[in-house]
This record gives sequence, structure tokens and C-alpha cells, in this order.
Amino acid sequence: MFQSLSTLANKRIILGLTGGIAAYKSAELTRLFKKAGAEVRVVLTPAAAEFITPLTLQALSGNPVHQHILDPAAEAGMGHIELAKWADLILIAPASADFIARMAAGMGNDLLTTLCLASEAPIAIAPAMNQAMWHDTRTQSNVKQLESLGMQLWGPGAGDQACGDSGLGRMLEPEQLAELSGAMFSSGALSGLRVCITAGPTREAIDPVRYISNHSSGKMGYALAEAAIEAGARVTLISGPVNLNSPERVCRITVTNAQQMLDAALAQMGRCDVFIAAAAVADYRPASVAEQKIKKSDDTMTLTLVKNPDIVATVASHPQRPFTVGFAAETERMLEHARAKLERKTLDMIIANDVAQQGIGFNSDDNAVTVVTRNSEQSLPLASKSQLARTLVTLIAQHLAIPRH
Ligand code: PMT
Repeated sequence: MFQSLSTLANKRIILGLTGGIAAYKSAELTRLFKKAGAEVRVVLTPAAAEFITPLTLQALSGNPVHQHILDPAAEAGMGHIELAKWADLILIAPASADFIARMAAGMGNDLLTTLCLASEAPIAIAPAMNQAMWHDTRTQSNVKQLESLGMQLWGPGAGDQACGDSGLGRMLEPEQLAELSGAMFSSGALSGLRVCITAGPTREAIDPVRYISNHSSGKMGYALAEAAIEAGARVTLISGPVNLNSPERVCRITVTNAQQMLDAALAQMGRCDVFIAAAAVADYRPASVAEQKIKKSDDTMTLTLVKNPDIVATVASHPQRPFTVGFAAETERMLEHARAKLERKTLDMIIANDVAQQGIGFNSDDNAVTVVTRNSEQSLPLASKSQLARTLVTLIAQHLAIPRH
């Protein structure tokens, strides 16, 4: 695969086809996008459907092809506004002179022009037309208008044309368009990498109705999952019981207790490049779980607890060890304890948070942390967990680039 295509992993692309003989090349473009790991939804104008069948594009994209704005069946599935919001990129290839003119005039008289009006995603246009149509002053002024609106113009190329003419007006080749699309996302710091994140608390059963747990909400781990997705990673989120919706495009595995979380984490070994342990795992569990609800009898009761396996330490000592990042939730001497955990658990990085402070740490929307590695220390001031997660992902990506041993 071309280097820049790896940035297309997990990206959502609307590929719009308008009427032109070059539409056949967009079948190959769809295939290249899919091969690079992008999700593709194809939109055909009525003129495009004269040149290529929806069935071909449906088979290649793995999604139904969208054609009409007033199609109740399509609107019931993914409506046009939903589709406009869904996209990370809209690429119109081939873009006919007629389509470019309608876009330049701000029209919304079919599904594709409406999507372009309604979407905040970047829009790229790959023109394809007869060389005289391309050079026509009206087409040129329309193209300038689209560029002034921030749309990208990819091509056209020069060469022999289907009509027998020769000159500018050929649609760029599918490989070129795929590369240009990949370059749009090249800031993806974790592109092509597989990231596994633990989040939330664990619950250790005492009897069928009681358990030992903690106040973790899962917000920190879920924010990291979203940030890693944004950075182009494929993300598996191993989540304890939380009240959060699964972030889009994340593969979530739900678990209850520490042993299940460990089993799920070990199943990812060999399939993950980065492991981030944001979960607040119960350090101990009851030695035995009562089969029936324990009855209230004596004034005091004693629970015997046994140590739970240490998940992040087990991952860090695995033969297929990923880049391993832990968290340290501390209420005193934060950096000293965090450094000790970094060493004892043989982690690559530990993110220390002072969970005694009000408004950060457990079950809050914000956090403030210090990122510690063997030879660095960096404080990240109070910020929303989402913002902080983005910074943490960038720092992790930077450290991944440094040779480890
Ligand atoms: O979920 P939120 O409400 O958003 O709160 C976020 C958080 C405070 C839970 C999070 O930022 C955090 O600090 N997570 C780690 C909590 C914790 O258990 O810290 P610890 O210092 O006890 O553990 C150190 C590291 O070992 C952690 O990465 C932990 O996931 C891991 N661990 C601990 C015990 C165990 N048996 N297995 C582990 O993997």
C-alpha cells in the first residue's frame, strides 16, 4: 500500500459520482479506499447512474448506494443530513462541468449538491470533461468560485480523451485520487496502529447482589478511545460497567470483574501496538462469592480478600508486549508513587493524576495529569478529559517514534 493510504484507516468517505465516462474509474477508487480501511458511501447523480450501475458500487463499497433525496427508504436508513454529518471527506469524482456549475451557484437540487451544502467535511473535486468544456470561461470561473470557498481541486490531468480530443480534462487516476485523499488525513498520529484501552471500574462480587468497586465513570478511558480513533487508530475498548455510550468506530468489549478484564486484554496481545490502562481495577476481590445473599446477623462481618491479577503489569511482561501506558491514581506523593509504579510494572509511560483534588480524576469531566517516562516528566494542566486525551495521544505517538531499548 502507498504510505499515505494508511491514514485512510477508519475514515468515512462520501464518494460522489456525476455524469461522465470516467465514472468507471471510481469503481477502482472505491476498492482502493476499502482496501486502505476507509468506510465508503457512494452517492450517484441521475447522470452518473447512466454510466455505472449502483450494484457495482454497492458491491465494492459494502454499503447501499445513495441516489435520491426524496427516497423514503433511504431517509429511514441514513437520511441526507445524517449522511452529511457522517463524512470525514466528500470527494466528487468524476465532477462534471454541470455539477461544478450547480455547486458554484450554491444549488441543492439533487442529493449530492445538498450533501455538499449540508456537510462540514472537507470537499474535494476531481473534474472530468472534454478539454473545450474545461477551458470554457464559465467553467473556469465556477472552478475558481469553488476554490475560493475552500474546496480542493484535484486535477484534471491531460491526455487523450474518450471523445477523441486531447488535452486537459481527464480525471486523475484512482491511485492519485486515493493518495490525495490519504494526504488529507496525514496528521493522524496513530494511523494504522491498533490501540487497546481499559476503562471504568471493575466490580468484584461479594454475593449475588453486592460487590466491591470504586467511583470510576469510564470518562477518561472513553475520551482516550475517541482521541485514538480521531488519530487514525483501530481501537478496542475493554470497559468495566459504566453509563457511557460506546464511541463510534470503537470495538467495545464489556466486562465486569478484573479477571474478565485480564482475559480480554490478553486476547488482544499480538493484535495491539499500544495498550493504555485507564481502568480503575479493584486490587482485591472476595476470596469466595456467597451463592446466596448474605444475611444480616452479627454486628460486624469480616470479608477475606485476595489480590487480583495486575492487568497492566501482565501486559507489560507479555512476550508480544505493546507500548504499555498505565495511569496512577494517587492521593499523596503523586510523582514518587507514579515513578515506583512505572518501574515495578515495567511500563513505558505512566499518567499520574491526583485523585484527592476536587473536580478532577474520578467521575469528573476534567482532569490534570503529569506524564512520566523513565527520562521525562511533563505536566498537563486542567482541561476537559477530551482535550487532555488528544494531547495524551499525541505524546504517546511521539514516544512511539523513539526506540525503546
Ligand atoms: O473513569 P474516570 O471517572 O474518568 O476516572 C479516571 C481515573 C481516575 C480512573 C483514571 O484517570 C485513572 O487514574 N485510572 C487508573 C486508576 C487506578 O486504578 O490507578 P492505580 O494507581 O491503582 O493503578 C495503576 C495502574 O495499574 C493503572 O493503569 C491501572 O489500570 C492498573 N491496574 C491496577 C490494578 C490491577 N489489578 N490491574 C491494573 O491493570
